[in-house]
Amino acid sequence: QFEIYLRGLQDQVPPFTTDLSALEEVARDRMGPQPYGYVAGAAGTGATARANRAAFDGHRLVPRMLRDATDRDLRTTVLGSELAAPVLLAPIGVQTVVHPDGELATARAAQATGIPMVLSTASSHTIEEAARANGDGQRWFQLYWPHDDEVTASILARARAAGYTTLVVTLDTWQLAWRPRDLDQAYLPFIRGNGVAIPLSDPVFRARLDRPAEEDPQAAALQWLPIFSGKAHTWDELGFLREHWDGPIVLKGIVHPQDARRAVAAGMDGVLVSNHGGRQVDGAVAALDALVDVVAAVGDETEVLFDSGVRSGADVVKALALGARAVLLGRPYVYGLALGGADGVQHVVRSLLADLDLTMGLVGCTRVAEIGPDLLHRPAPTA
Ligand code: FNR
Repeated sequence: QFEIYLRGLQDQVPPFTTDLSALEEVARDRMGPQPYGYVAGAAGTGATARANRAAFDGHRLVPRMLRDATDRDLRTTVLGSELAAPVLLAPIGVQTVVHPDGELATARAAQATGIPMVLSTASSHTIEEAARANGDGQRWFQLYWPHDDEVTASILARARAAGYTTLVVTLDTWQLAWRPRDLDQAYLPFIRGNGVAIPLSDPVFRARLDRPAEEDPQAAALQWLPIFSGKAHTWDELGFLREHWDGPIVLKGIVHPQDARRAVAAGMDGVLVSNHGGRQVDGAVAALDALVDVVAAVGDETEVLFDSGVRSGADVVKALALGARAVLLGRPYVYGLALGGADGVQHVVRSLLADLDLTMGLVGCTRVAEIGPDLLHRPAPTA
């Protein structure tokens, strides 16, 4: 952890800020208004996106003294896999909107930093291309669940064959929410053809097309739209995913404790508490507040993961102290991608991990398993 400070002695400054909460502002000045709006945007008035941050501010850590926390180890086990740290890169679609290397850069940075990536169904690169770029890295696959069982089965088989170990099924975005920033700019990057590499490279989907994708990619994208969006799935359909995926399955977007109980009853391996970074239901509960309720309901029975609002090492410690097994990082790494490609993502991830490592030590923990509720001050109301 001294490395980053000692660099200062040689007058070396980082490529851009190490303050992940300030990245959004830095990126705003450097990205075009449309890509910036796509990443920074939230649903409606932005109330839930703000609440996500306010909830972190509402919890405070109480550091412990005179414990030997010099030698630390960030490794942890999540859903049976050993991770270098309790941090993963959240699934973010359409990444070529912010940088031409898109998900390939993210995949390389994930491998270089030892952090798993979660590839989105709405990627600008194919499942196989991202896997090659990720090499021997750990990769999970995020499913936007199509309304075409043969296409779903084909995509899942491709992901398994390409070495994605865990399936993350996103439930909160079966249709896009009211997102004024995208609407005002008539900006739907997905329809412009950036986020459809996976269906367009899928043999089963291609066989459904009226005209070859190469002749009319936009028409192909529009034909994909009703297959993967606009209609919700239901609890009784989860068995299909279990039949077609032989690794762990996590449900993403669970915020209600009763839904968490249903996920456990349905035999799912984990839940990912998330409100999609405040991009879906404006006015929805802050994700960190939902985490508390979900952990109370199912924390003893299943693994609970978390995202939405993580911006610092202390945030990771707080989420873990509240019962999360690991957290996913969203927008900050996409700003890193926009500002510096794979190197930019690496800078963001390494900053977060260094901050996490220092914070863990300073609160008196040497192992992830030692992070518990005793580190938290009396929970403060966040509303
Ligand atoms: C997302 N998210 C998302 N989630 C998902 O399951 N599939 C996807 O394709 C996307 N795409 C996407 C694009 C952009 C630009 C953003 C900002 C987010 C949600 C993402 O996985 C995660 O839940 C949030 O980003 C977490 O919140 P923070 O960390 O960005 O506040």
